[in-house]
Amino acid sequence: MRHLLSTQDLSRPDAVRILDTAAQMAATQSREIKKLPTLRGRTVVNLFYEDSTRTRISFETAAKRLSADVINFSAKGSSVSKGESLKDTALTLQAMGADAVVVRHQASGAPHVLAHAGWLDAAVVNAGDGTHQHPTQALLDAYTLRRHLSGTALAAPGASGPDDAAARGAGLDGRHVAIVGDVLHSRVARSNVHLLHTLGARVTLVAPPTLLPVGVQTWPCEVSYDLDATLAGDTAHGGPDAVMMLRVQRERMSGAGAGGGAFFPNPLEYSRKYGLDARRLGLLAEHAIVMHPGPMNRGLEISAQAADSPRAVIVEQVANGVAVRMAVLYLLLAGSDEAEVAGAPAAA
Ligand code: CP
Repeated sequence: MRHLLSTQDLSRPDAVRILDTAAQMAATQSREIKKLPTLRGRTVVNLFYEDSTRTRISFETAAKRLSADVINFSAKGSSVSKGESLKDTALTLQAMGADAVVVRHQASGAPHVLAHAGWLDAAVVNAGDGTHQHPTQALLDAYTLRRHLSGTALAAPGASGPDDAAARGAGLDGRHVAIVGDVLHSRVARSNVHLLHTLGARVTLVAPPTLLPVGVQTWPCEVSYDLDATLAGDTAHGGPDAVMMLRVQRERMSGAGAGGGAFFPNPLEYSRKYGLDARRLGLLAEHAIVMHPGPMNRGLEISAQAADSPRAVIVEQVANGVAVRMAVLYLLLAGSDEAEVAGAPAAA
């Protein structure tokens, strides 16, 4: 793996390798070995053109726990505000010896340009580009789903024996995940649909027609406009094993429909039809978990009761993000197929 730009680029063995490596990383953290020497002398640059809390801090923590040097670059307050181009910024980072560049950008495709334009020798990691992709979010979501669901009973149709890690998959074969809300603007939804499909899970997108992108029918998932019916399930499938609520991205919408964005939905109407509240929690199967990538609009797509319920794994998703990002940086900068994580036990 040279870069991590999109979950569509990940084969099933690649994805399982990242999740297995993340489990090794998490094991080191739980053994109080907070810092591994693996990336000593390497430099990771966090290049953020859009705001972030979880992703930026998580990558910084992950890099530091692998002993890398970290440079945090925020477009606000930098020479970007004087008009400096992405190319000149990249050449500056190259001159400073960046080994990995973690980039968040408002333009879909910016990480791809950075990776392939020839301006950088560094590995490029997409930390969210426009409405396109957020691969490490999908990986930490898959990791969280695996932790909660792979031990519970389901005869995975066609699942292979336990000796071949790639064939065994992530333990998500046959699982059902409902992804609910503002799919139109969500790079998290796009990333998850492709990764979960690769890992053998079934995905249902639930959204109002106005918040679904053109071409969604070609994605490897089902589409529904009816949240209650999806959560209740049917006799053939039962309800979902996990429900992933999406943030309504107000900043990418406009009340007047200007700027190419969708109209901002009526909040009361939206919550009534597509919000996860206490009543809808009651429709879920006993083992089902509630996820949200954050930041949440409490009272809009998710009620406080749902966000704070024992089923919610939202804070755990954040914690798992550190182990997953450690795994990604490790595999990009130091890893090989056979490599073991220094100081870490084998993954379970
Ligand atoms: N989930 C996520 O990307 O959160 P941040 O925008 O806070 O990084």
